Amino acid sequence: MPALVLLGAQWGDEGKGKATDLLGGSVDYVVRYQGGNNAGHTVVVGDQKYALHLLPSGILTPECTPVIGNGVVIDPSVLFSELNGLNERGVDTSKLLISGNAHIITPYNVTVDKVTERFLGTRKIGTTGRGIGPTYADKINRVGIRVQDLYDESILTQKVEAALDVKNQMLTKLYNRRAIAIEQVVEELLSYADRLKPYVADTVLLLNKALDDDKVVLFEGGQGTLLDIDHGTYPFVTSSNPTAGGACTGSGVGPTKISRVIGILKAYTTRVGSGPFPTELFDADGDALRRIGGERGVTTGRDRRCGWFDAVIARYATRVNGLTDFFLTKLDVLTGWEEIPVCVAYEIDGKRVEELPYSQSDFHHAKPIYETLPGWSEDITKAKTFADLPKNAQAYVKALEEMSGAPISAIGVGPGRTETIEINSFI
Ligand code: GDP
Ligand code: IMO
Ligand code: MG
Repeated sequence: MPALVLLGAQWGDEGKGKATDLLGGSVDYVVRYQGGNNAGHTVVVGDQKYALHLLPSGILTPECTPVIGNGVVIDPSVLFSELNGLNERGVDTSKLLISGNAHIITPYNVTVDKVTERFLGTRKIGTTGRGIGPTYADKINRVGIRVQDLYDESILTQKVEAALDVKNQMLTKLYNRRAIAIEQVVEELLSYADRLKPYVADTVLLLNKALDDDKVVLFEGGQGTLLDIDHGTYPFVTSSNPTAGGACTGSGVGPTKISRVIGILKAYTTRVGSGPFPTELFDADGDALRRIGGERGVTTGRDRRCGWFDAVIARYATRVNGLTDFFLTKLDVLTGWEEIPVCVAYEIDGKRVEELPYSQSDFHHAKPIYETLPGWSEDITKAKTFADLPKNAQAYVKALEEMSGAPISAIGVGPGRTETIEINSFI
């Protein structure tokens, strides 16, 4: 059973970095398949804390080969500063491999992201401002710049020209900004070519060969199911497919190779940026979840919106990803509440609805229907087995499992690698 996908089951920040790092010791390759440096994945190893944006979390495990697949968008300057940061801390990053088909986030994509958000005003998405959406838009419009383009100056110049043709009209005539000079962009992009070169590889061939040789490959999603461009809360989403299918298109590995799809699920819910969020709390409980859970964005430093667990969303994630397992994180954050509400269904226009409505306006009107579960006050951060958990914490996990439609195979009880209860082994 060599290929596993690990992805966010909610709106991102579920603890994917920690879960990937934990499995890193047992896998040969960790592959990012979509997104870019909009992601912020935290990994805590002993007393060291790492914040990764573009690099797969497997980079911290020496035996593991980290791969940036064709579905990822790469800002080379961010990549280099992340590599430098890790090298300064003694992490060997020389095994990194990058797909020549991955697209480059150019400086004008970052500009367009920021300008578009400003002009959307109150309708803004609340993007991370990293140029993600415009880069994927260029890719779909067939005017994107790929890593391999950096190795042919004439092709690169033609492509930058094509990409800037319309954008410069838009920037100058619509947004009242200065035009972007083609030569300057080409020069900047070429300056990245030499340093990138040793990492560039035919990652499709390599990953498929590795799977043929029975190597273990772990696909690490960025963002989360509800931020998926197709299956998320559109338009308040990111511009890629974090859901399981994205692992195939974003890496060139076929679906028949994937044997396990693990959804990372926070024991409550958070969201960053705009968009509907039925269980969002605006009271002292929301503040307490934010404070105890340290819910502040790793990439943008924005406070995360917080709310109770939403089983409707978890069931939806099980369905659209074909989840085989959940990894429940941050159970320890809920310690101390006398009672914990869990959303089991929605009320929409006076009717009880059990499943996520496909209609955007229905979802905007969805009111959570809560069931209240008894809480616990014992410290659970040292728990090593399910039996170590207080009875009420066990019952909370079992209730979530029943409502969510897939077995909970691991439970996070703290940010560190070792603060995990493993119930079923993943590999
Ligand atoms: P990601 O984007 O999904 O990788 O998640 P983030 O790193 O953005 O946010 C998750 C945060 O929760 C990080 O600060 C992690 O160190 C932390 N974390 C992960 N799992 C646990 C857990 O089980 N308990 C606690 N208390 N913190 C956790
Ligand atoms: P990780 O991998 C949480 C959100 C942004 C915004 C929307 C679109 O750490 O879970 P974008 O810049 O992608 O065009 O912004 O998506 N978003 C995330 N929210 N965690 C993330 O990544 C996110 N990446 C993007 O806040 O609402
Ligand atoms: Mg994050």
